[in-house]
Amino acid sequence: MTDTTSTYSGPELVFSGVQPTGNLHLGNYLGALVKFVRLQETHNCVFSVVDLHAMTIPQEPGALKANTRQIAAAFLAAGVDPDKAVIFAQSAVPAHVELCWYFNCVARMGWLERMTQFKEKAGKDKERASVGLFDYPVLQAADILAYKATHVPVGEDQKQHLELSRDIADRFNREYDVPDFFPQPEPLIQGPGARIMSLKDGTKKMSKSDPSDLSRINLTDDADTMARKIKKAKTDPEPLPDTVDGLKGRPEAENLVGIYAALANCTSEDVINQFGGQGFGAFKPALAEVVVEGLSPVTKSFNEWLADPTAIDAVLAAGAEKASAIAQPVMEEVRDIIGLWKKG
Ligand code: TYM
Repeated sequence: MTDTTSTYSGPELVFSGVQPTGNLHLGNYLGALVKFVRLQETHNCVFSVVDLHAMTIPQEPGALKANTRQIAAAFLAAGVDPDKAVIFAQSAVPAHVELCWYFNCVARMGWLERMTQFKEKAGKDKERASVGLFDYPVLQAADILAYKATHVPVGEDQKQHLELSRDIADRFNREYDVPDFFPQPEPLIQGPGARIMSLKDGTKKMSKSDPSDLSRINLTDDADTMARKIKKAKTDPEPLPDTVDGLKGRPEAENLVGIYAALANCTSEDVINQFGGQGFGAFKPALAEVVVEGLSPVTKSFNEWLADPTAIDAVLAAGAEKASAIAQPVMEEVRDIIGLWKKG
């Protein structure tokens, strides 16, 4: 959106969320967690395990709770530090649900009908999809704006949802004539990890819901499994090109080079300079090494955290208090702006 009325000049704050819907994979790690760890050094950061979003597809209650702890453990294992950033479960802070309702009355059906993620998840029979699934991006806007977050680190698949958050913020500010109230949250997408593709099909994103486990590297995979998955990754028969341009039209090669670059903290150009002209027989073992080296410490720490659910719960409880303390004054202002009844 270019034509915004927001003149927001409040402090910068980073917010992001990850759903507790099964194992995290390399895409989640590079598209989100690595950025969280970097941003906590420079910004006030609030990171949420968004269990209310997970409910938009049926969840078994015991599994939902365990998965929420798992994602919190993954944040911690990746290096998110609870002394530097707020880590909490979305359902522990009622402001998300409350602001979602207010935004439901601001957002337009047509905006939500255009959301590609809803179309994909609802499939052919959208009449039978839950209202929650349809409303998913409005709750996401509420997550971000309950903290007046200005920056949102996410993978590329979340771009459209972020645009909707900006539209909702803008519409609220206009409708209630409070041009400087909500910021226009900026997605932080760039970088080689923004769109990690399936190891079995370079045109599809790496995803928790892909039926083939060989399509993704899970944070729970051991070193041998990771190396085996890289070895079995789909490739084309050509050697790696001599220039980055030569990766165009070769989605699998481009993806593997991107994964190497993201984990080795270099550019695709650097990778091509080193491996251009070599076949995958030479490149894949080097990539497997970088993947194992990059993820093994995370996997180890992840398992240590998982073995101590009490410690995870303590982090989540302290985080929920800190998150509430940020969201509460925002919500009081919102209620006042809308004109909702207030006691006393
Ligand atoms: P979720 O749980 O599906 O994914 C968590 C994060 O991982 C990123 N991601 C990827 N990045 C690169 N390559 C991939 N293949 C890949 N797959 C997933 C996602 O972009 C995301 O950053 N709607 C969000 C959760 C959410 C949220 C929010 C995010 C709820 N409220 C508020 C930001 C702000 C989601 O589905 O994430």
